[in-house]
Amino acid sequence: MSSNLERSILNRVLLIMSLGGVLIFGLSTMRIVTEGFQPKFGLMWLVAASIISLRLFRNKLQAKAIGFLLFALFTIMGLVALLNDGLASIGSIFLFLGLSTSAVVVGTKTFFLLIGLQFTAFSAITALTVMDVLAPVPDDTVEYLTSGKTWLFHGIVISIGAAISFYGSNLLGQWYRNNLTETKDTFYNAISILSLARDTETGEHIARVSKYSEILYDALTHNQKEQLHFTRDELKKSVRLHDVGKISISDALLKKPSKLSEDEFEEMKLHTTVGADIIGSILNHHQREDRVLSLGQSVALNHHENWDGSGYPNGLESTKIPIEARIMAIADVYDALRSKRPYKTAYSHAETIRRMTSMSGSKFDPDLFETFLSVADQFDRAYATSPVSKEDDIDG
Ligand SMILES: [Fe+2]
Ligand SMILES: [Fe+2]
Repeated sequence: MSSNLERSILNRVLLIMSLGGVLIFGLSTMRIVTEGFQPKFGLMWLVAASIISLRLFRNKLQAKAIGFLLFALFTIMGLVALLNDGLASIGSIFLFLGLSTSAVVVGTKTFFLLIGLQFTAFSAITALTVMDVLAPVPDDTVEYLTSGKTWLFHGIVISIGAAISFYGSNLLGQWYRNNLTETKDTFYNAISILSLARDTETGEHIARVSKYSEILYDALTHNQKEQLHFTRDELKKSVRLHDVGKISISDALLKKPSKLSEDEFEEMKLHTTVGADIIGSILNHHQREDRVLSLGQSVALNHHENWDGSGYPNGLESTKIPIEARIMAIADVYDALRSKRPYKTAYSHAETIRRMTSMSGSKFDPDLFETFLSVADQFDRAYATSPVSKEDDIDG
């Protein structure tokens, strides 16, 4: 679960608890006035003061530390209550509260360790009470602590508490992750739509290269042939950002029906570095790592690099070109050849493969190209089922 979410849950818990702390403080003070000072009232003061301090210094502490401290405080309160006549069942509820608050920030293993700790403390208190070490305690406390019903009650409360806490925090975490994924996807789409706004390329081109990258990813990782440093989903989303830098290129260039002059080509090359800079600035404003954006930045910068070092912007060679960009190069060229562009007609699958094969080892990574050939029919199917492809004229 995100630490932001943990923190906001803990902050709310702390607010309610500190109000409870003020109440505990007031009640213990009243009882000191009417009944005289007893150690248990002093302890209640300490607990109340600790909870209020936790609330005051919440921003100076890690969420996990707050969770552990709340667990400790509630557990102490619960155990103290268990030793006091008439408060026994409330004691179990305090123990349960301690577990619930800690469940927000600790993992499953630690959570069960905390249940073990509580149970050990509960058993130790019972044993010490029975052995009269913890004397003097009221007779009915001994009765309460040693009765089967108490243990059953304690067990049931803890089991239900554990189930609710886990279900609740997992559900909340799931909800948060889904929301975050949706928001992020909208954001990535917004960036890729920017690159479409002025380009001759279409949304379908973006959707298709995304699909091709998935096909290549699956072929590469099939039977664990290759270990890639990103997931299929991250790659699929990041390739959509490859031409975002084209928003800086003039319409005259983007829509030119003939081949670009040398100067014009130099200007066109800038879309790689501009794209990487745009994504880089977004990343700089981001507080935490965003793997899709980092991968997108690499794809934007390197998708026109060639295997033999003749590409741009940095003239990188062979495996110095990141694998995500080598995948993108194949996906992008396949789609460009299949599609109608201002300067060319659309080619058939066979013609596209023929043209691309002549570029293996010069433009494309030869090993990756072999993998591409093994799944090329899936590229053809993805192109054929794409809505605009039917409108393109096939030539050659
Ligand atoms: Fe490009
Ligand atoms: Fe493209």
